[in-house]
Amino acid sequence: MGVDREAALEAVRRRLSREGAAHSERVALTARRIAEAYGIDVESAYLAGVLHDWARDLPPDELLQEARMLGIPVTEVDERVPYLLHASVGARLVRREFPGVSDEVVDAIEQHTFGSPEMSGLAMAVYVADSVEPGRTHGSAAVLRSAIGALPLRELFARAYADGLRHLIDSRKLMHPKTLKTWNSIAGGDPS
Ligand SMILES: [Fe+2]
Ligand SMILES: [Fe+2]
Repeated sequence: MGVDREAALEAVRRRLSREGAAHSERVALTARRIAEAYGIDVESAYLAGVLHDWARDLPPDELLQEARMLGIPVTEVDERVPYLLHASVGARLVRREFPGVSDEVVDAIEQHTFGSPEMSGLAMAVYVADSVEPGRTHGSAAVLRSAIGALPLRELFARAYADGLRHLIDSRKLMHPKTLKTWNSIAGGDPS
């Protein structure tokens, strides 16, 4: 049992802002391209891309409320920037909305903002697609887009993650504890 990707795309168009839906579709197409390059299931990549931002337009108080109701741990950073919960809340809401969705797709959605020390190829593909889809105009996005298929997927992911971290630091944004764990796993250190 799966989820019809056209139905999922329609649902995203109804649910998200026009730009949010357009971004989601670009992420889906980019994730599919990455999946093709690395021998990952292309349908799952497309579907996870379409659905990855399912909760991104929820208002901050609703994200916090949903997270608490769903039993998702809420850190001090999440309280200050509730938008950071949109990946974990979105993953849980997608599971409820689309009962045929696979665990791998749900995990990829959940891990699309912070990553995780243990990510599948699919989850890395969706993370990278979200950072480099053609609507992302920063210079490194174009460089990474052209590296799809040329670099090992783990290296592509590591570079996309490092770019995200640099942006976080340059813009003096709060760092979530999960980001530290993922970074340490990329750097090869103790992930705890
Ligand atoms: Fe997102
Ligand atoms: Fe996104």
